[in-house]
Amino acid sequence: MNKQEAIDKATITFNSAADYFDAPALSFWNRFGRRTIELADLQPGMRVLDVCCGTGASAIPAAVKVGTTGSVLGVDLAESLLKLARTKAQQQGLANIEFQCADFSNLGLPSASFDAIVCVFGIFFLPNMEAAVAELWRMLRPGGTLAIASWGARVFEPANRTFWDAIQSERPDLYKQYTPWYRIGEPASLQALVSSCGATDIRVFAETDRHQLNTPEDWWTMVMGGGIRGTIDRLDPATQMRVKSASLEFLKTNNVRVLESDVLYAIAQK
Ligand SMILES: C[S@@+](CC[C@H](N)C(=O)[O-])C[C@H]1O[C@@H](n2cnc3c(N)ncnc32)[C@H](O)[C@@H]1O
Repeated sequence: MNKQEAIDKATITFNSAADYFDAPALSFWNRFGRRTIELADLQPGMRVLDVCCGTGASAIPAAVKVGTTGSVLGVDLAESLLKLARTKAQQQGLANIEFQCADFSNLGLPSASFDAIVCVFGIFFLPNMEAAVAELWRMLRPGGTLAIASWGARVFEPANRTFWDAIQSERPDLYKQYTPWYRIGEPASLQALVSSCGATDIRVFAETDRHQLNTPEDWWTMVMGGGIRGTIDRLDPATQMRVKSASLEFLKTNNVRVLESDVLYAIAQK
């Protein structure tokens, strides 16, 4: 996939996923967004860029943290997600945050424009991740903080494996065809990616988390509200139903109520 194809695919996928993205079954966005902001140690008055901001899971806590003397610019490709983000920011009375629909790797902003830059579950969507990190590093001021979060290798197991097994038997041509999030799953690969821009002061945290399913159907809501939606939308309705049944059957039969959801965080000081 070249860069333009990757941008088009992410735009279509996440505009489509917007109808489920903020469902309670996907509460993990907020949990990991808040954790990223905690690790980034933002201070009042900072100017923050949050790229791949979605509906504001990290951008909104960042705006709270930097306060009225600071500001946050959230950037995402999916206008449908940004609409939800703007509503949430407005409901919380946050006047220091704005959202822009754009490709973050081509913002055209001056060097050293931000005190902190955050990217949660987004860097792997760019085919050239090193170039994407270098662009973030360029926009960060000396002494500023870059915070990147990515999924651990066993994200949402065992539900994920069951889902892909069902895709394999129904549509082998789509098997893991759109899964860029598997490109960084180990602390060493995240560390190497961040150091590729010249960063030397980097801390990587690999944190273990478990995501609770209230019912097996929660897994299907997660499928519809996340990146896997890019695969679902390529199935005809009957195939979608068979994949759904196979996934849920496994979770019900094995009484699976908890999914692995390990996350990697890299915090780099420029
Ligand atoms: C998995 S979602 C994560 C959203 C949010 N950070 C969160 O944790 O809830 C990834 C987001 O990255 C966005 N995205 C992918 N490539 C992008 C790019 N080149 N520029 C801006 N946003 C991008 C997608 O539109 C999607 O909303």
